[in-house]
This record gives sequence, structure tokens and C-alpha cells, in this order.
Amino acid sequence: MNEKFFCPSMMCADFTKLPEEIKSLEEADIDIFHMDIMDGVFVPNFALGTEDFKAIRANTDKLMDVHLMISNPGQYVELFADLGADIIYIHPETDQHPISTLNKIKAKGKKCGIAINPETSIETVKELFHVIDYLLVMTVSPGFAGQSYLEFVNDKIKEAAKYTDELPFKIVVDGAISPAKIEELSKIGVEGFVLGTSTLFNKEESYKEIVDSIQQL
Ligand code: DX5
Ligand code: ZN
Repeated sequence: MNEKFFCPSMMCADFTKLPEEIKSLEEADIDIFHMDIMDGVFVPNFALGTEDFKAIRANTDKLMDVHLMISNPGQYVELFADLGADIIYIHPETDQHPISTLNKIKAKGKKCGIAINPETSIETVKELFHVIDYLLVMTVSPGFAGQSYLEFVNDKIKEAAKYTDELPFKIVVDGAISPAKIEELSKIGVEGFVLGTSTLFNKEESYKEIVDSIQQL
């Protein structure tokens, strides 16, 4: 059974009390801070930017990823590597040469991943599976928290999972991930879960209570 890892989506955090939020999430033993970086072009929203990244980087030694929902990510991956990102996800849908961009990330000594939109098929990206450490499968259209899960993506997840038998990448899901989805998807090969308003943020329970309970699923 693969170990689950949890990635709080920091665009959902309360930025009026960021140091406390980070401390509580660390005490809940989350694994990777998930940073949704948006440019208003690839996705019709902005969410987080470099200053937000720096503010969180300065307050934690935990792993941080960046989910680059930006056009032409190849121009910016070294910037985020230098800011201290441990994992950098690009959308191949918006990169003319994803292999060279992924190699730039690796050359910086960082882990790399591709994030694929709900409408992007495995057939069009499977060659990239040979160079990635992570596959981030969007289970909502990227850009906004609080959306509904797109059930048709499950077939794509099952297809991607077949490649993990011989290739060393891990599958992560991002978008409307509820506790029920964590239980369901961990059974079909998903190891990483981006947690936003569907499981972790704006709840009655503490982050620690929630993470302790979903660890058992
Ligand atoms: C979607 C974002 C995530 C996530 C938020 O683009 O990457 O932050 O959807 O979590 P939910 O969907 O549970 O509010
Ligand atoms: Zn994301």
C-alpha cells in the first residue's frame, strides 16, 4: 500500500494570519505546501505570486511545490527554483518544449512534474512520463477553489496508474478532493492529494484533527 501525502493548497489559507496558519499546518504534519501560481492568462485568475511564495518559504522548512498555471513556464522555472521551490509543476498545454523545461528544473536539482487539465488526455503527454517525478492530475478546471469534482477524470487516473508500474513518477490529484475522494482515489494509484476547501480549509475541526483522520482512510 503506498503512503499518502498531503499538500495544503495555500491559496485557500487565511493570509491575514499566515505565520499561524503555517505553524498549525506543520503541527498537523502536512507534507508539501502547494502553491498555485497564476498569471491571469493560462487561467482566468491570479491566486498566488512570488511574494506569497517568499513569505511562506521564509516561515517553513517543509517541502514547497509550485503549480505553475502560467503561460510559457520555461521562462520562469529557474526563478522559482532559486526562490526555494522543491517541486515545480508545469502545464505542458502551454509549453512548446516541455522536455527542455523539465530538464531545466532537474538541472537546478529540483523535482519536476507536469500538471494536466481535465481535458488533456494521457495519450498526448505519456512521453513525458519518462522524465517526471510527479503527475498532477487536475480534477477540476484549474484556477479556482470550491468547484465540483469532474468524475470523468477517474478513467484517466486509472490509465496513468498503469505507467507507474515501470516508471518512477507519483500521481497527485488537485481539485475538489474530499475525504471520500481520498479514500476512493488512493485505491486506484493516487499517492498525493492537494487539499483545499473540500477537506482542510474553513472547517470546524483543527488542521491536525482533519489530517489525522484522513491519514486513516
Ligand atoms: C484549483 C486549485 C486548488 C484546489 C482547491 O486550481 O489548484 O487550490 O482546487 O481546493 P478545493 O477545490 O477543495 O477548494
Ligand atoms: Zn494546484
